[in-house]
Amino acid sequence: MKLLAISDLHVRHKSNRQALLEVSARPDDWLILCGDLGESPDHLRLVFETLGPRFARLIWVPGNHELWSRASGGARGVDHYLQLVELCRSYQVLTPEDPYVLWQGEGGPAWLVPLFLLYDYSFRPAGMNKQEGLAWAAEAGIMCTDEFYLHPHPYPSREDWCQARLALSEERLSELDLSYPTILINHFQLRFELARLPRVPRFCLWCGTTRTEDWHQRWNAKVVVSGHLHMRSTDWRDGTRFEEVALGYPRDWQQSRGIDGYLREILPGPQQQLQGRHGPVWHR
Ligand SMILES: [Fe+2]
Ligand SMILES: [Fe+2]
Repeated sequence: MKLLAISDLHVRHKSNRQALLEVSARPDDWLILCGDLGESPDHLRLVFETLGPRFARLIWVPGNHELWSRASGGARGVDHYLQLVELCRSYQVLTPEDPYVLWQGEGGPAWLVPLFLLYDYSFRPAGMNKQEGLAWAAEAGIMCTDEFYLHPHPYPSREDWCQARLALSEERLSELDLSYPTILINHFQLRFELARLPRVPRFCLWCGTTRTEDWHQRWNAKVVVSGHLHMRSTDWRDGTRFEEVALGYPRDWQQSRGIDGYLREILPGPQQQLQGRHGPVWHR
């Protein structure tokens, strides 16, 4: 019984939809879906109906794309998010609104903590305010589509929504028995320095909040799982493993490799990183 993860399936794209159908069944394992499955409730349904029967349990956290509301008159912001949570529940998919589960499979016990923290534009150069940060990104031709479609309603701004989510999540985390480690699961990055985007570095504004910089230590995280960057990576900080698990748009991954190789093992996973003469050495 292993814990696996993938994000950014972006099933709006035909080749990603095809790949979804090719995910192998692993009926003993749990699968984290770390956001950006698509842009509509129908996209979520497609993923849950395809993967639900192939895994023992699915866990979902929202990405920015799921939170877009383009149809006028439809639910926006918090209402839209809560509708998605209800949709997840109808498929028995765990969400950030459900009680945290103690993982008892391989690599456990550990608390599984799905989070929805959003971003607050604080991933920006020192000395800039938000408006200056947006201008700095615009100079490089960077503007996130969220500015048009991710409504924060009823909060006045996305950063206000982010602050509310941080407060709510801190309150719930502080009630956990932290003698067990946590697996923190959030679409966005918890640390600024890990919001690495070589092709579009100024997109970092829309990638997280500096308020979570120390959360891996504060909440005794064994692993932090995220997506959003479409730049898969594994990093270690202070003994915590940080996994970016995105598949991404068709241009971001190699279809010829098959999708199964993009499912990352979170638990048990590698136990520690040893420093070899020629760089990091993985040790199981
Ligand atoms: Fe994405
Ligand atoms: Fe994203």
